[in-house]
Amino acid sequence: MTAILVAVDGPQAGEWLAALRESAPGRELRAWPDEAGDPAGIAYACVWLPPRGLLAQFPNLKAVVNLGAGIDHLLADPALPAVPVARVAHPDLTMRVTEYVVLHVLMHHRRQRLYDAQQRERLWRVHDQPAAGEVAVGVMGLGAIGRAAADALARLGFRVAGWSRTPKQLSGVETFHGQAGLDPFLDRTEILVCLLPCTPETEGLLNLVLFRKLKRDGAAGGAFLVNAARGALQVEADIVRALDDGALAGATLDVFQEEPLPPQSPLWSHPKVTITPHNAGDISPRVFAPHVVAQIERFERGLPLENAVDRARGY
Ligand code: NDP
Ligand code: OXD
Repeated sequence: MTAILVAVDGPQAGEWLAALRESAPGRELRAWPDEAGDPAGIAYACVWLPPRGLLAQFPNLKAVVNLGAGIDHLLADPALPAVPVARVAHPDLTMRVTEYVVLHVLMHHRRQRLYDAQQRERLWRVHDQPAAGEVAVGVMGLGAIGRAAADALARLGFRVAGWSRTPKQLSGVETFHGQAGLDPFLDRTEILVCLLPCTPETEGLLNLVLFRKLKRDGAAGGAFLVNAARGALQVEADIVRALDDGALAGATLDVFQEEPLPPQSPLWSHPKVTITPHNAGDISPRVFAPHVVAQIERFERGLPLENAVDRARGY
């Protein structure tokens, strides 16, 4: 009764299975759905976007490892068994999302969309360029990833602030927290970076009311949004409205309310929107698989899972 179930939705399913098999040569790994076998034999489950109700089918399940950082999909399963759940918080993932955030903050800061448009017109024109130190960036979420992104942006010279649920202290970063800290945080922020988990408290947070509170008259030349967290945090109709009425000057979106983003979405062709296919933190199963197997081995030695999810808190 120590078999590991691997249930991964999406194009990386085969890669995960191969990488986990390589990292756990002596163990019985069963790929869902074809090799799931007797449900009573499953002790651990390594999952990404498993169907609702799946994990409730294994009466001897001891722990679950989520093969990604965001845990919202798993916690939305009302039948999720009451066993410990771990998520990925790993320097490789943190660095990849940090790269993404730095790339897109710089893209807005350096007006790269404008220069791309000029290139198409063969137009040689230089625009005013503020220094990073004149521009206020605000990072929502100061967890494993938000902290690293805030730090990288501060090192580039931006005036960085962060917002979290509970108070934080970060060198070189002004911090705000809780509901009371949100408006002052937004009020000083020109480029807003979202790295929050999706929970009942954060769902729909990125809406028109919030966009209108951002600072538009700063050196950045408007307010910008970079959302690399979860699509459910953003109200897409409000993003379009905010872009059209000037509350937002540009947006980079890696995540969407529905993924893949439907072809009919107006975001695809909006001139102020940059879209990526939820790849900010594209992780390599080969890098993570040893870490996943180590988690299970720790647990079997009686140690708690690392990066265990606090189910009551929701992330
Ligand atoms: P963590 O759990 O480490 O950090 C979450 C942060 O959000 C914490 O600082 C927490 O505050 C804050 N937070 C949570 N709820 C609230 C709230 N209601 N109000 C204010 N702050 C809140 O997460 P990670 O940094 O590892 O990842 C963040 C998210 O990024 C993931 O949940 C995932 O959805 C997304 N992600 C997206 C990827 C992509 O490819 N696009 C890749 C990886 C992650 P506190 O510390 O005070 O509790
Ligand atoms: C995510 C991830 O949570 O890729 O989106 O880890």
